[in-house]
Amino acid sequence: MDPSTFDFAGYYRERVRTAGRPERSPDYWDGRAATMSERGFDTPYVRTFLARMDLSGCSTLLDVGCGPGTIALSAAPRLAHVYGLDHSPIMLSAFVENARARGLTTATPILHSWDDDWTDVPVCDVVVASRSTAVPDLEAAVLKLHAVARRRVYLTYPADGHLVGDDVRRAIGREASALPDNLCVVGLLHELGLHPTLDYLPGENRLAEAADFEEFRARIDRLLGGLTVEEVPRLAAYFDERRGRPPAAPMKWALFSWETGG
Ligand SMILES: C[S@@+](CC[C@H](N)C(=O)[O-])C[C@H]1O[C@@H](n2cnc3c(N)ncnc32)[C@H](O)[C@@H]1O
Repeated sequence: MDPSTFDFAGYYRERVRTAGRPERSPDYWDGRAATMSERGFDTPYVRTFLARMDLSGCSTLLDVGCGPGTIALSAAPRLAHVYGLDHSPIMLSAFVENARARGLTTATPILHSWDDDWTDVPVCDVVVASRSTAVPDLEAAVLKLHAVARRRVYLTYPADGHLVGDDVRRAIGREASALPDNLCVVGLLHELGLHPTLDYLPGENRLAEAADFEEFRARIDRLLGGLTVEEVPRLAAYFDERRGRPPAAPMKWALFSWETGG
């Protein structure tokens, strides 16, 4: 394969279409809002994300797939105004509630989907898509982010394409890499003439955070969109064997950022 002529955007679309990644509806995210609001803000991922952001010369931020406001509201004290865009009404209620609890009057929710017409979405200095890029067409999503960013864009994507670490997937017998990984995203951005910087952020350590096997199983089941009856005992064996040790191949997030030239 010649990387200079390879169609990364088409490859991404095709791999996602055939890999059967679970489609998450607004209802699914509505049901996740309370937990994410409670546990989502003070994590190594969020702390590292915020530390990596360059907000110099910026006064406005748009957070796409903002959830309960994890990134937008954490950055808000350093900015004049933040906007949180999400397709889940309950996530946006949590966003509003969390802004109020922090005494912030400079945070505006926007009920929209990636697929909607964004002509009413404000152009902002910084545009963020944190853990919200599980879309069927990443090229279209990147173009939308780029179009509403005056200065720079930050986007995270699972480093090896999956929300569950490599060792867990291998242990239960799932194919090592069915989804496009961060190298595909580098290629896709390059195709669009964008020159990103790339960094890596820690994912959650689901093994250490689960109180017992049931909790671990429920988390992995949710992230994979269902475990088969054959996979559950394999996961239990992995849990017993690895418990008390860090995962051999922890899930990581790739953080891409680029300047828009504004
Ligand atoms: C894993 S959460 C991430 C929340 C937050 N950005 C963070 O990093 O903590 C994914 C968010 O993306 C939103 N989302 C998923 N698909 C979306 C779509 N098609 N349009 C708009 N928002 C979407 C979900 O409602 C959810 O709030």
